[in-house]
Amino acid sequence: MATELDGAVTLRGLRKSFGERIVVNDVSLEIRAGEFFSLLGPSGCGKTTTLRMIGGFESPEAGNILIDGRDVTNDEPEKRPLNTVFQNYALFPHLNVRENVAFGLRFEKNSHSKESESKRVSDALELVQLGIFGDRRVHQLSGGEQQRVALARALILEPSVLLLDEPLGALDAQLRARLQIELAVLQRQIGITFIYVTHDQHEAFTMSDRIGVMREGRLLQVGAPRELYEKPVSVEVARFIGAANLLSGRVSSRGIVEVAGEKFTAPDNAPLGDGMVMIRPERIRIGVGSHNATINRVTFAGSSLHVGLTVGDSILVAEVPNDETTANLAEGQKTMIDVLPDAVRVLPLG
Ligand SMILES: Nc1ncnc2c1ncn2[C@@H]1O[C@H](COP(=O)(O)OP(=O)(O)OP(=O)(O)O)[C@@H](O)[C@H]1O
Ligand SMILES: [Mg+2]
Repeated sequence: MATELDGAVTLRGLRKSFGERIVVNDVSLEIRAGEFFSLLGPSGCGKTTTLRMIGGFESPEAGNILIDGRDVTNDEPEKRPLNTVFQNYALFPHLNVRENVAFGLRFEKNSHSKESESKRVSDALELVQLGIFGDRRVHQLSGGEQQRVALARALILEPSVLLLDEPLGALDAQLRARLQIELAVLQRQIGITFIYVTHDQHEAFTMSDRIGVMREGRLLQVGAPRELYEKPVSVEVARFIGAANLLSGRVSSRGIVEVAGEKFTAPDNAPLGDGMVMIRPERIRIGVGSHNATINRVTFAGSSLHVGLTVGDSILVAEVPNDETTANLAEGQKTMIDVLPDAVRVLPLG
């Protein structure tokens, strides 16, 4: 029977070492039922190891894993209500598309008729828009189509949770971008919890309800994409998520931060004293405001311009739209800048 816990995944104090090295360090996390959740972090930070522990392919040396509210820490992979799509999706070249997808049923305990099996394969293929490809051999498919066969094979058992480890890693940029959208739409349509591993921030932003940012085995912050971007809790997260101007500064009085020899508005709750000041490039306006600046560089980036600015003794980079308001910006120009009131964050010194 479906309950509201179906597809909820809880990690409590998960730890894993290889030899002397702790590669997953005290990771605790609540993933909600039906959520598209991504683990994002640089290569080697422990994403795959975390996913493999959730899947049951690796056992944690400390901590617990709950799925659908049930402790599965010591359960074999096939006893867990989940399925996995790996990066090299391991399709069988000697089987056709339908046979590959039907292979997903091998772990099913209840026997079922050939007829219902055939219907379920067809339904799974429809779901990933491969309905007409059932008789093709794997080598007759593009990379993106093969990826969808792997997805259909994993979904046919209707797991509560699907684990995906960089499943688009092998595809070219354009196909990746298209499949990212397809995957996000499919996930919302079927409502299964997706736990997705990637080192690609853009990919995680495109698809996820929430993201867990990992580094060196630790979970640094969990939040919706906008929250991570606008309110990173640390310099590490600010650096990893998007471009950021990070300058040391000082909150000299409530709501005022001194940075680059100028005073800017800081959030009221920024603690007094030294800190790292983060200003996102697109929150800087040029040609308005009250802070003196000199343009030291203008870089063309298509829809936007990246403008290097000398402000006091520091350099800031602004990103401005490429339009008639910015057409005259030139190196060496003196100008004024403004920073939008909510754009400044003061982070602990990292
Ligand atoms: N079976 C293993 N034996 C020894 N070390 C391992 C093993 N599996 C992973 N590691 C190490 O643990 C660390 C974390 O690996 P993991 O595969 O979880 O990283 P990742 O975040 O998925 O990286 P990537 O983005 O490159 O896939 C790495 O330094 C890796 O070399
Ligand atoms: Mg990995």
